[in-house]
Amino acid sequence: MNYIAAYEEIINQQLARIEKMKKGQEFIDYRSLDKIIIGIIGGDGIGPAITAQAGRVLKYLLASEVKAGKVEFRTIDGCTIENRAAVGKAIPDDVLTEIKKCHVLLKGPTTTPRKGDKWANVESANVAMRKELDLFANVRPVKVPKLGIDWTFFRENTECLYALGSQGVHITEDLAIDFRVITTPGTKRIAQLAFDFARRNAKKRVTIVTKANIVKATDGKFLDVCKSVAKDYPEIEVDDWYIDIMTAKLIDQKRRGQFEVLILPNLYGDILTDEAAEFQGGVGTAGSANLGSHHSMFEAIHGSAPRMVDEGREIYADPSSVIRAGAMLLSHIGYQKKADHLFVALETCTVTEKKLVVTGRSDGATGADFADYILEKVSM
Ligand code: IPM
Ligand code: MG
Repeated sequence: MNYIAAYEEIINQQLARIEKMKKGQEFIDYRSLDKIIIGIIGGDGIGPAITAQAGRVLKYLLASEVKAGKVEFRTIDGCTIENRAAVGKAIPDDVLTEIKKCHVLLKGPTTTPRKGDKWANVESANVAMRKELDLFANVRPVKVPKLGIDWTFFRENTECLYALGSQGVHITEDLAIDFRVITTPGTKRIAQLAFDFARRNAKKRVTIVTKANIVKATDGKFLDVCKSVAKDYPEIEVDDWYIDIMTAKLIDQKRRGQFEVLILPNLYGDILTDEAAEFQGGVGTAGSANLGSHHSMFEAIHGSAPRMVDEGREIYADPSSVIRAGAMLLSHIGYQKKADHLFVALETCTVTEKKLVVTGRSDGATGADFADYILEKVSM
């Protein structure tokens, strides 16, 4: 393999991406649109089952907007592992074209193949969608009031080891090299979003998480750029932590309550947000916003659980993660009251009242029963 040519191509791609980012982009103003198009992507595994339930809830809450022509729902099929593997692409072209026509997306989990699977080892559909739609901010809130936890993670979503995760190079049989990319404009935009959020929500502290003592070039840049953005927000206290001790401090009862807004490069953000979600009941309960300037995608943070489908249990899968993602979507497109209503219903149905429990098996409620329960609460 001519790895010098491979390096050159990678570097040119990234330099072109930087130029595009430098031009800057205005965020879409949903209120100025005649109609907001919401795409619902079932994905695969338990995805179609749980996303259908979340879709029911959203369609109920937006029924009058749909009737008035202000909102349109579109179902986007075909983002399944079978189709993706068949065409050897992370997202089939026709599916991507439909996705790009939507302003916001609610997405079920999609199977990410790995070496040795029965599927072709195509790039993750999640990662491809984040890159294709430039969904640079992965915002993941975790709230557990009784433990004093109210964290909002701003995970950079297009760079770090994910940017070129499927473009590593096998130099010889014994040597494999992957590439980690951190850019100045890429870091600046996630940092600005996090600090703006902190300011708008009267948060006192923003925490930057890296391993800049070891990974000196890329994490060093991430930390420097975040600190320089912080200068525009003098009222906000800034601290920086290394990812190893950060994972420990999240479980330190005396310290964890002090963290409010956290900014992280992609991979550390991936790992730390799974740990954080565990405090509020696990990844099955957490929703996640993937924000870009022209598109946004809302999804669960868990996987597609193909085993549940193999065992015929998908009707028992818990849809609360995608329903929560739906509430985040409502808030993002300006329907804050409806979003709050849904967040309260989720709290009632999963914590305070909990009239039924979804266990993932036939001893628990079905996803449809759970969605009915949510609908009963939001219609009150
Ligand atoms: C997440 C997931 C994804 C990621 C996978 C499914 C590609 O773990 O959203 O956190 O690694 O980002
Ligand atoms: Mg993850």
